[in-house]
Amino acid sequence: MKYTGRISIMVIYVVVSASFKISDYLELGYVPIYEFILSAIWIYPAWLCGLYFDKYRYYAQKLQKTEKELNELLEKRLEESEQRFKSLFVHHSEPIFTFNLDQKLIEANPAAENLLGFTINEFREKEWASIIDPEDLDRYKEHYLDAIEGKSQELTVSMIHKDGDKRVITIKIIPIIIDDQCIGIYEIAKDITESIVAEEMLRRSDKLAVIGQLAAGVAHEIRNPLTIVKGFIQIIESDIDRNYQELMLSELDRINQIVSELLVLSKPQVIKYEIKDIENILNSIISFLESQANLKDIQINLQFDNQMPFIKCEENQLKQVFINLIKNAMEAMPDGGEITVKATTNHNQMISIQVIDEGIGIEEDKIPKLLEPFYTTKEDGTGLGLMVCQRIIEQHSGTLNITSQMNKGTTVEVCLPI
Ligand SMILES: Nc1ncnc2c1ncn2[C@@H]1O[C@H](COP(=O)(O)OP(=O)(O)OP(=O)(O)O)[C@@H](O)[C@H]1O
Ligand SMILES: [Mg+2]
Repeated sequence: MKYTGRISIMVIYVVVSASFKISDYLELGYVPIYEFILSAIWIYPAWLCGLYFDKYRYYAQKLQKTEKELNELLEKRLEESEQRFKSLFVHHSEPIFTFNLDQKLIEANPAAENLLGFTINEFREKEWASIIDPEDLDRYKEHYLDAIEGKSQELTVSMIHKDGDKRVITIKIIPIIIDDQCIGIYEIAKDITESIVAEEMLRRSDKLAVIGQLAAGVAHEIRNPLTIVKGFIQIIESDIDRNYQELMLSELDRINQIVSELLVLSKPQVIKYEIKDIENILNSIISFLESQANLKDIQINLQFDNQMPFIKCEENQLKQVFINLIKNAMEAMPDGGEITVKATTNHNQMISIQVIDEGIGIEEDKIPKLLEPFYTTKEDGTGLGLMVCQRIIEQHSGTLNITSQMNKGTTVEVCLPI
């Protein structure tokens, strides 16, 4: 604490009292003793006044300093909490959007760009309602209004991706409340399309397991009478029209084929792997399918690398795979054309067999769906063909890969270990 107040008041006191009495003292030639005593009595209250003045100044300055420090601290805390919030907003892995009460997008975090393929600017330019499936729009609006009333909401809607696909999104709608007033809305979105697809797959594979069990039971019962009927048709060959007989036999073969396909779906099967020549397998399939191909004006070419190695396989199952693949290729070429079956070996570890057609092709985004059970675009298709192939190839530790170009053709490549 400084002495400014006390020193100043002392100086003023001395100067003022001296200036009043200086002429008296000069006349007397000395300062009387009682004047000293009087001055000493008066000097104490003057000193006290100075002291209070100094104290007041000291505390006022201290208060000012504390207030400044407090303000600085508050500002820092505010900035810190803003940064904390911003960090949560920016680095959150789920897309977060903020809207004003008129449902205009104010801000979105970087994860929002992964949601529907739109950039944040594109989101801003769009009406939010225009990317929600019209069927879900009313429900969404209801939830939005409820959220403005202060109640957080959660719902699942279908939203339209930039590429036109529909995605299933769950949205949490959270009111932004400041001073007891809702001033906007946070929306946290999550794309659950994949998990719904996975659920659907699970449901389907359950269905498939049931079909498998049924198939195992039924297939056995069908095959026996089938063999007997086939035998008799061959015996009575001479008595009926040869064309009818061929037709009946080929239809019986088809029934047999369907039954075998169902059998693959049935659960544990005893598979007998043997060392076989892939050239023989493919040759026998082609001769089996050639007549059908000729009818459709389709030519099947076989190409082999020199010295194809032998592979360990279950012959009938592999035959089924290539029959399915070539059948698909033929069905994709309603106007005829050429199917090439090309077998090559690479590095003596794998063989690759490609079934190449010149058919209608498959849209790129549909390719992953082809291996799903029951996916078919054909009126009389079961949608099981490729799935059965995939399963057989997996059991042989191989891979099946499909590439296609619309209106140019499709190549299905089967790789098998040697
Ligand atoms: N080579 C191909 N060219 C064009 N589309 C194909 C080809 N192979 C398969 N597909 C498409 O994949 C779908 C599924 O084929 P998959 O063999 O599993 O069943 P399917 O042929 O429809 O029925 P199924 O084989 O039981 O008669 C087909 O419906 C077809 O749309
Ligand atoms: Mg098929």
